[in-house]
Amino acid sequence: MMMELIKIEGGRPLSGTVKIDSAKNSTVALIPASILAESPVTLENIPSIVDVERLGEMIEQLGGTYRYDGDDDEDFIIDPTNLQNIPLLEGPVTQLRASYYFLGALLAKFKEVKIGMPGGCYLGPRPIDLHLKGFEALGATIEQEGGTIYMRAERLKGAKIYLDFPSVGATINIMIAASKAEGTTVIENAAKEPEIVDLSNLLNNMGAKIRGAGTDEIRIQGVDRLRGTRHAIIPDRIEAGTYIALAAAAAEEVKIDNIIPTHLDALISKLQEMGVDIEINTDSVTVRGGKALKAVDFKTSIYPGLATDLQQPLVTLVTQSDGVGMVEDTIYSDRFRNCYELNKMGANIRVQGNSAIIQGATPLRGARVMATDLRAGASLVIAALIAEGVTEIGNTYHIDRGYSNIEEKLTNLGAKIWREKE
Ligand code: EPZ
Repeated sequence: MMMELIKIEGGRPLSGTVKIDSAKNSTVALIPASILAESPVTLENIPSIVDVERLGEMIEQLGGTYRYDGDDDEDFIIDPTNLQNIPLLEGPVTQLRASYYFLGALLAKFKEVKIGMPGGCYLGPRPIDLHLKGFEALGATIEQEGGTIYMRAERLKGAKIYLDFPSVGATINIMIAASKAEGTTVIENAAKEPEIVDLSNLLNNMGAKIRGAGTDEIRIQGVDRLRGTRHAIIPDRIEAGTYIALAAAAAEEVKIDNIIPTHLDALISKLQEMGVDIEINTDSVTVRGGKALKAVDFKTSIYPGLATDLQQPLVTLVTQSDGVGMVEDTIYSDRFRNCYELNKMGANIRVQGNSAIIQGATPLRGARVMATDLRAGASLVIAALIAEGVTEIGNTYHIDRGYSNIEEKLTNLGAKIWREKE
């Protein structure tokens, strides 16, 4: 089989503006949620990432349709009118984790769902027990056999659900399922990520009655019917944070545009602690390079804490900072595989369980490395941009799951990046 590589010749200072796309982790929830409507839903500014294509294929497998519209195909229109309850057992369902949002959506729509276990990045075990407990509390019975989950409910009834951990996925799935349940559901210890607020806004515009999204208590009063609407997706705070970290490592002066800076407060203050020169505006930040950076310790946590999805990109930056940095990922047990690849490029990182100890600053040199998961890929792209010589990054499909038009965006900033098959 041919393997595709992203190749980057490092060492070119970057300058210009990069426009951030809409949030992947919102989009992958909004698309499944849209099937609850009885007329078409238009999602504006759809990001051009592979996960969107996969979710579109799943809508088609279910008998619905999707199409792109607008001058730049920026609108994504989902027509769920003829949707049927067809089991989603193979193909795209196994290729991304967010396919599990069809559990909540199909349960709400048809009171019955059969689906293959979702895929996605390996970051240590990623159970979905909290999702299933939530569905059970709403009245579903669940059977699991091999890789298949089968759920049905005579009726869905609102319930009080306390989440042992404020899981993003469980909060979203329960919101989707409860939006058409009878009576009121209260999710306690709910996740507060901006993507949850975005989903709540979409569902409410479709006719749902959800209050409290963005706090740790969400109340959902079930309704009988939901209708189509138009919805503008929020900007991707993780893509934004990645480009901010990238600019801190490699920029002369780069403006990261079309963002909501408050979604990135934890990252921005961490970068300021490192000595990064960063100017914050209403919907953009500008990063100026050339400053000596000092190593910092950091820990990932739930929103508004420092996002685990930015941990790997930040690690690359710490390799360029003077001193020792200690990083702990409190969300996942195995999200440091990029560190072994960074070490091949000259970094000095020791991984211990869910922590990494980084000794900086180490010059990096081009090497052949693997994107072991999506954000590991981002971490390696940043490393490649500052390394001496050419870096070849394999497993590019991980990167394409979450970063739209990455070559175009980086080329516009002055990077030398291209793809090759071998
Ligand atoms: C979402 O994953 C994101 N994915 C992840 O982004 C992100 O890392 C994560 O939230 C945390 O912010 C999508 O939105 C598609 P969780 P999700 O449920 O929903 C444990 C990226 O790079 N847990 O909040 O799966 C779980 O094992 C990706 O874009 C249970 O134990 O995250 C993990 O340790 C990667 N039981 C922790 O909670 C459950 O039922 C956080 O998971 C559910 C989760």
